[in-house]
Amino acid sequence: MGAQGRIVWVSGPAVRADGMSDAKMYETVTVGDAKLVGEVIRLTGDVAFIQVYESTSGLKPGEPVIGTGAPLSVFLGPGIIGQIYDGIQRPLRELSKISGSYIGRGITTTPVDMTKHYHFLPTVSIGDEVSGGSILGTVKETDLIEHSIMVPPDHKGGKITNIVSEGDYDLETEIATTEKDGQTTSLKMYHKWPVRKPRPILKRHDPTVPLITGQRVIDTFFPIAKGGTGSIPGAFGTGKTVTLHQIAKWADSQVVVYIGCGERGNEMTEVLVDFPKLKDPRTGKPLMDRTVLVANTSNMPVAAREASIYTGVTIAEYYRDMGYDVVLVADSTSRWAEALREMSGRLEEMPAEEGYPSYLASRLAEFYERAGRVRALGSPDRDGSVTIIGAVSPSGGDFTEPVTTHTMRFIKTFWALDAKLAYSRHYPSINWMNSYSGYLADISKWWGENISDDWLSLRGEAYAVLQREDTLKEIVRLLGPEALPDEEKIILEVARMIKIGLLQQNSFDEVDTYCSPEKQFKLLKLLVDFYNRGQQALKEGAALADIRAMPIVGSILKARMDIKDDQIAKLDQLDLDMLEQFKSITGVKIQN
Ligand SMILES: Nc1ncnc2c1ncn2[C@@H]1O[C@H](COP(=O)(O)OP(=O)(O)OP(=O)(O)O)[C@@H](O)[C@H]1O
Ligand SMILES: [Mg+2]
Repeated sequence: MGAQGRIVWVSGPAVRADGMSDAKMYETVTVGDAKLVGEVIRLTGDVAFIQVYESTSGLKPGEPVIGTGAPLSVFLGPGIIGQIYDGIQRPLRELSKISGSYIGRGITTTPVDMTKHYHFLPTVSIGDEVSGGSILGTVKETDLIEHSIMVPPDHKGGKITNIVSEGDYDLETEIATTEKDGQTTSLKMYHKWPVRKPRPILKRHDPTVPLITGQRVIDTFFPIAKGGTGSIPGAFGTGKTVTLHQIAKWADSQVVVYIGCGERGNEMTEVLVDFPKLKDPRTGKPLMDRTVLVANTSNMPVAAREASIYTGVTIAEYYRDMGYDVVLVADSTSRWAEALREMSGRLEEMPAEEGYPSYLASRLAEFYERAGRVRALGSPDRDGSVTIIGAVSPSGGDFTEPVTTHTMRFIKTFWALDAKLAYSRHYPSINWMNSYSGYLADISKWWGENISDDWLSLRGEAYAVLQREDTLKEIVRLLGPEALPDEEKIILEVARMIKIGLLQQNSFDEVDTYCSPEKQFKLLKLLVDFYNRGQQALKEGAALADIRAMPIVGSILKARMDIKDDQIAKLDQLDLDMLEQFKSITGVKIQN
């Protein structure tokens, strides 16, 4: 029997109820006569503080609060892909059909259509031993996603005593039974999982495989690993959403979980209207065919926003457990942190920096710690990953504010957006001096095995040019460019070429929008070769003006736009042309 209490106090999304001594922390409760969904977030004696996921207007003291005995959980099974959910996995499109454009209260609708039939193909037979996480069979969920039906991770396992044959079944059909120690359990195509509890895994792998995003400043300079964590902070309008959309579209992951926490009206259309229009560039199908969208808009209760990242990450872990590489993108985590702050304020907790609760940091840690590349539980053996990337929107672009600084403690890749770069239309406006990646050493082996052994050293040489330019800029500012010797002036020249020819990337250009790792490497090599040959040419007495005037300079700058991914041999030709041009200005003194 669950708790049965009474409301004593209501403040926005926060409710206090007494008579709740039977309740548990994080238990889901129904609140009031309207049976609103809420969650116990603090318990003192028989008094429970509850955050309510729906509008509490009209709720009055004296109304009942009933415990459900279960923690806040998500439905995990076929039919999730392609959905747009709110923070507690209510399907927004279905809800708007029931209640018009505004989300009604106390409406219970299932997260997926439970009557839909899926074509199930069993992969186990009677007598097989299974354990938590084992795959029982597969269904085709969408054109792009094959969905493995798994034994729930906390299931004790046993011998398969019955399994349905290949055919069409709805979600409530028993598809298998298992037996262990004389006890039989029944399995369906779905199970539930509490959102605040990470799904168990067999073991964690090191982050040695890069997530290839096709965005050069990311992959070449500040890479993220599959199963890694990254943050993209930026002031208003600096390119967070465009970058995250690019990652969702192009990254070599199979499943995308996109958590949109918008506040202003235009962000709402971004999430609910613009995102569903995106196409999967490789198949031409809607990106939603491999995406789950969790959307929070300003007219939704703050508590649902708070829950949304847990709902999102639990869904991501579920697809990871099938063996998929999943990218989870949260835009923006600042909106989520503001929800946390508002709730904490309502509960009259002691605030820490800027009014955020003292547990902001631990909540961020709990979220990012759920990233990882793992060996899944159960048979057959399979590896999957959840990569977590969160945007942060510090007001005024001030990276010393609490959400940014705490996030930096828990992530390994930091893409610092820069309003000055955005203003000068240098996109993506990722500042190369303030950004970093903690995965370089881990993933360099992958680049060596798949692209070239020279990757890490060339990347280091190009980055060193950018760092030298950064210090020289100060001298130029004080004394003018003429104060520099030619071997330093050429650093400024090459840095300019790296910025225009490599770092800048136009998301809206058909060719430039995605750059394969091979092409990224060849562009990088062209620029580093140009730098080294240029230095050599100067030593041989060539004039800087002649180097600048070489026709190859223009070709290198345009190569990212001009040369398509299937013509990258042309980049090798450019390298040879460059060598010829250096030879001609130095009288054949440059050798390679
Ligand atoms: N890689 C890019 N290529 C071309 N244009 C870009 C790129 N990145 C950003 N932009 C331009 O910058 C504009 C603003 O970008 P975006 O909406 O992503 O910013 P934001 O940081 O998400 O802003 P907000 O704080 O409002 O959410 C875009 O509409 C686009 O014109
Ligand atoms: Mg945005």
